[in-house]
Amino acid sequence: MEESSKPIGIFDSGLGGLSVLKEAIKLLPHEDFIYYGDTKNAPYGTKSVKEIRRLTNNVVDFLLAKEVKAIVIACNTATSASVDELRKRYSMPIIGIEPALKPAVELNRQGEIIIMATTVTLSEKKFKNLMEKYKKDYDIVPLPCPGLMEFIEKGDIDSLELEEYLREKLKEFSNEQISSIVLGCTHYPFIKNKLSQIIGEDIPIIDGSTGTSMQLKRQLQSRKMLNNKKQEGKIFIYNSLDGEEIIKLSYKLMNI
Ligand code: SIN
Repeated sequence: MEESSKPIGIFDSGLGGLSVLKEAIKLLPHEDFIYYGDTKNAPYGTKSVKEIRRLTNNVVDFLLAKEVKAIVIACNTATSASVDELRKRYSMPIIGIEPALKPAVELNRQGEIIIMATTVTLSEKKFKNLMEKYKKDYDIVPLPCPGLMEFIEKGDIDSLELEEYLREKLKEFSNEQISSIVLGCTHYPFIKNKLSQIIGEDIPIIDGSTGTSMQLKRQLQSRKMLNNKKQEGKIFIYNSLDGEEIIKLSYKLMNI
């Protein structure tokens, strides 16, 4: 098969990366995508970096066996732990995701920029480097959210329990003091509406899916790897969890 006709592999610790897949399809409608959710091993955010790397390597092996031409790590936690190592090992485009701090500071709004993410994402070198770049000039507050991705993984994006979780997390901030919220986990865009209900529609909520998809497009373009076909691309969704339910839930989330 010609290199440009091969599919793009995209993966996450579970269903969160579907928020990135949705954006990537919009930007690259003629590409075929293979999505892999590692729900059986979710969450990654509570595991050691060594264990996350082992899990990530297994998923990458799965995608390589499907002959993908590029890989998108649609998981902030897995990117923090593995992207550098994977780029050293493979010459194909490997795109990662990180908290979208740049678009948040570019909004130039007064107040605190809250970054919601897993504890691993917020404690790894990649995030520390990002903080170094901006913390002098902006008021940035990292907010670890253990347990939040589990709501989305169950398909719960609107319950009272979820609302209570979010209210508790944000209780120390008054809405007037928040400049924006950056979603540093690919699961969180699915609860954007719920968050907006709590903090108010006026506070911008930013995620990294657009930036990551644009980066994917740029990489394919510059390496002349874009698929030239005219018809719509195909989407294949896989999951490490057995059974049809998780695949059904994946398609449901894709339509939200
Ligand atoms: C997790 O697996 O704990 C969250 C995934 C992410 O950081 O995007």
